[in-house]
Amino acid sequence: MSEIVQDYIEDYIRGLIPADCLQIEEFRQRAQATDIPIIHKEVQKQIELLITAQKIQSVLEVGTAVGFSASVFAIAMGPRGRVDTIERNFKMVVQAEENISSLGLNHQINLMVGDAQEKLAELDQSYDMIFLDGAKGHYIHLLDDCLRCLKPGGLLISDNVLFKGMIASNELVIRRKITIVKRMRVYLETISNHPQLITSILPLGDGLAISLKKTIKDEASCCQA
Ligand SMILES: C[S@@+](CC[C@H](N)C(=O)[O-])C[C@H]1O[C@@H](n2cnc3c(N)ncnc32)[C@H](O)[C@@H]1O
Repeated sequence: MSEIVQDYIEDYIRGLIPADCLQIEEFRQRAQATDIPIIHKEVQKQIELLITAQKIQSVLEVGTAVGFSASVFAIAMGPRGRVDTIERNFKMVVQAEENISSLGLNHQINLMVGDAQEKLAELDQSYDMIFLDGAKGHYIHLLDDCLRCLKPGGLLISDNVLFKGMIASNELVIRRKITIVKRMRVYLETISNHPQLITSILPLGDGLAISLKKTIKDEASCCQA
């Protein structure tokens, strides 16, 4: 359980989510059985909704793990959608390649091996959506490159931003996690007040921040009273 919302609420919401795709459901169960940290079911549904509503066709992901969320995004976008996903752990990369291949999604998903900060700095293309799901203490260091690589009107989605409640309450903070907590608080304050972003933070899963990169029209239409 996420420790962000009460278990009975989370169980109820998860119980309402249908298993739309059997292969993805089996993939989720396999990953969870081996303790691979993948997106929560309700976070998956929220992002599928956003992909469909915003007609997203290109995604950059930080943190592939075994390729679960990348596969979910590729399927939600349909065959013309593309995912670039970055992973630095070679063992994960090997498993992700196998999983993506067995789902027949190789033509949609491009696995980039290496550290996200280095890979992001090299990127010169822009995306409809960027999904941050790597090391939580580094989101703040990736923000400038994410903004550079995000199309106006695109979405920056950051997962695990409430980190088991520790971000919102000092009483829950574990001493050895204090640096991550401090950096995440700075990240959330930055994206919440950033002139180029409209950000909503949801107590969904382990906390999900959804930020829209404003278009020039959005920037012009803010309160001028
Ligand atoms: C929570 S898991 C990702 C789960 C995946 N998005 C999913 O839902 O299926 C986080 C992954 O990010 C990777 N990671 C963490 N920091 C990274 C970095 N700086 N660069 C690349 N990968 C990173 C870790 O090795 C780990 O596999």
